[in-house]
Amino acid sequence: MSTMKIPLATIEEVWDVEQSFNDYEQSGHYFYLKATEELLPNGRVRVQGHGEMIMLGGYSYLGLIRHPKIDAAAQAAIAKYGTGTYGVRLLAGTLDLHLQLEERIAAFKQTEAALTMSSGYVTNLATISALLRRGDTVISDKLNHASIVDGCQLAMAEFVRFKHNDMDHLEYRLKRANKNGRKLVVADAVFSMDGDLIDLPAVSELCRKHDAYLMIDEAHSLGVVGKTGHGIEEHFGMPPNSVDIKMGTLSKAIPSVGGYIAGEADLIRYLKHLARGFIFSAALPPAQAAAAMTAFDVIEEEPERIAALQRNYLHFASRLREAGFDLLQTKTAIMPVLCGESDVALQLAKYCHDHGIFVQAIIAPVVPAGSARLRACVCATHTMEDIDYCADVMIKGGQLLGILPK
Ligand SMILES: Cc1ncc(COP(=O)(O)O)c(C=O)c1O
Repeated sequence: MSTMKIPLATIEEVWDVEQSFNDYEQSGHYFYLKATEELLPNGRVRVQGHGEMIMLGGYSYLGLIRHPKIDAAAQAAIAKYGTGTYGVRLLAGTLDLHLQLEERIAAFKQTEAALTMSSGYVTNLATISALLRRGDTVISDKLNHASIVDGCQLAMAEFVRFKHNDMDHLEYRLKRANKNGRKLVVADAVFSMDGDLIDLPAVSELCRKHDAYLMIDEAHSLGVVGKTGHGIEEHFGMPPNSVDIKMGTLSKAIPSVGGYIAGEADLIRYLKHLARGFIFSAALPPAQAAAAMTAFDVIEEEPERIAALQRNYLHFASRLREAGFDLLQTKTAIMPVLCGESDVALQLAKYCHDHGIFVQAIIAPVVPAGSARLRACVCATHTMEDIDYCADVMIKGGQLLGILPK
């Protein structure tokens, strides 16, 4: 007896767009998965089919991709160890390089120990799911990154959310959590779609008051906030032990790949033996471990990059805000340029592409319907002229599309 096979879901079923996916491709509004052919100075790139563009869509906040010292470290690691490892870390995959990298991260984040995994995504998934058991509660900010959400869903604990950065609601959640179980509060340091910061002093105080552990994801704050780029505690002038579980990625300000957890030695020992994403997945390749380790040195040796990044994002934000763009509460290098409906965001993105700016439209369901936006990330190596040019183009495009008054 034959049954009708249900067709696979379509993109249009999931994406909040008016036209068919093919129409967007044909009209040139589809700008995802574009291939970079060459990296050029000053935060510019050559893009297949588009030529030279100003890169406003990347996360190389400090402009460390192609840093000579970092490239040299990666090349030396290949010369010494080759391109791969003997497999998973727990069995044969650990190199002395991994241990050195983990010591470097622990020193940078001022913790007893650290552990690296194959990506930031895996780090969140593996850590949150390993730390909690039935009867425990994980409390997550509503705007946390998808990897945190997925980690919470995978954990056997009860998973609840608090309204974005709303401390009253967080306290309500903490009070209602099972008193006989562990409580874990998780938040991004800098929210990846909005660019604002978690209110760390308040969250940390609430966690102490309610005997909860605190985990903070520093994907977009490491190298970006704090006078010397050491991240969220430095930004708020708080002691290093304000966060129990310090998570970060090695793929943004650090020009490599991988994720890390930094914290007390007992926590790290536990994760080494219980975090499935660590145990059952291969070690970081030698070149990536060496590049990441050297990048932490460069951040400390070249503080002028952090100053340049902070100057650039403050200037860009003030230009866009003065013109009337809504940038939400951003205070960092991530600039959410609100457009409203998804189609308007796609049109403004295309206007920017046609004027040589590489920037992505972020549309529902990644962000709530009606809050589609361009997500522009400035970096330390952009010139002021390029930043002003990008602001001019976005403002003109915003006026033409009716997002801004003429
Ligand atoms: C806040 C946040 N956490 C985690 C990740 C995942 O990191 P990775 O890209 O290194 O897997 C990202 C990636 O964009 C992120 O924005």
